[in-house]
Amino acid sequence: MEQVSEGITFRHVSKVYAPGGEPAVDDVSLAVPEGSFVVLLGPSGSGKTTLLKMVNRLFEPTSGSICIDGTDIRELDVTALRRRIGYVIQQIGLFPHMTVARNIAIVPQLLGWDRRRIDARIDELLDLVDLPREYRSRYPSQLSGGQQQRVGLARALAADPMLLLMDEPFGATDAITRAALQKQMISLQRRVHKTVLFVTHDVDEALALADRIAILRDGRLVQYDEPCALLTEPADAFVRELLNADDRIRQLALLRVESVMQPIGPDGAPASAPRLAAGEAVRQALSLLLRPETRAVTVVDGGRPIGIVTIDSIRAAACEDGAP
Ligand SMILES: Nc1ncnc2c1ncn2[C@@H]1O[C@H](COP(=O)(O)OP(=O)(O)OP(=O)(O)O)[C@@H](O)[C@H]1O
Ligand SMILES: [Mg+2]
Repeated sequence: MEQVSEGITFRHVSKVYAPGGEPAVDDVSLAVPEGSFVVLLGPSGSGKTTLLKMVNRLFEPTSGSICIDGTDIRELDVTALRRRIGYVIQQIGLFPHMTVARNIAIVPQLLGWDRRRIDARIDELLDLVDLPREYRSRYPSQLSGGQQQRVGLARALAADPMLLLMDEPFGATDAITRAALQKQMISLQRRVHKTVLFVTHDVDEALALADRIAILRDGRLVQYDEPCALLTEPADAFVRELLNADDRIRQLALLRVESVMQPIGPDGAPASAPRLAAGEAVRQALSLLLRPETRAVTVVDGGRPIGIVTIDSIRAAACEDGAP
């Protein structure tokens, strides 16, 4: 494997829980480059959580090694290691008897930050995850599930860890909240550039969030690639089926509207056309175009029209990459 000093590097990592039993993780080698968002995707029992928990040493590998920024994590003090890592789990794990502010402040307090710095950080984090600052004094039971997830995320980010481990963090929320949290995660990652290892078994979530996706099956790494590459060149029938790679609509979810738009003509943008912000997915444009009497969607950047998407422009772009 190539030398990667920054980020997380797994080298031939295996985990066998019961001696003589089947490995839960089986000879996985994987490099998560610094600042990248890597999703572990696979069916239930494929070893995703086990792999994640070995990074903060909740479990130790049976064999192989894990390095963070070039240092074998066995050489690091466990407490110091965990404080460098933000950890978010599906059950959120907020302390029910503590307010939102105190939940967020846990790690900064352990690190001995002064009161004023912690206070300012809480406000900053609530802004970052888009929660009103007034929620500081609420208790977890006074928040919706999605809001609790966001507090969980704020707490994980509190001491500005370089590394985030997220195990199905949006799993317990409804589809709308989940989509909103995913969007927020994407825009957050654009600003904070953490190294993120994110577990899900939701394919759409993986495709929406990941820079690269690691596909696990029975503890083994089947394929590790960028979303588009996984869809166009699945390693085997399992990956093809898991990703439903023949589904063109899914591929459109990965293309940004800018990549299929045409320049605005001399007449300017059609006045009645619906608008989409640059960065939105082509699939979004397609669903607008399926509305009655909608022939074009105007792409805007900071409120300024920059192009037009039509069914024809989508078709032209979708056929370019050798699709049938
Ligand atoms: N603490 C444990 N002791 C023994 N076996 C375990 C333990 N934790 C997990 N396993 C087993 O290891 C395998 C992988 O489990 P793991 O929790 O890593 O899967 P997963 O991919 O996270 O699944 P899910 O999507 O259901 O969360 C499973 O067969 C599971 O039964
Ligand atoms: Mg799991």
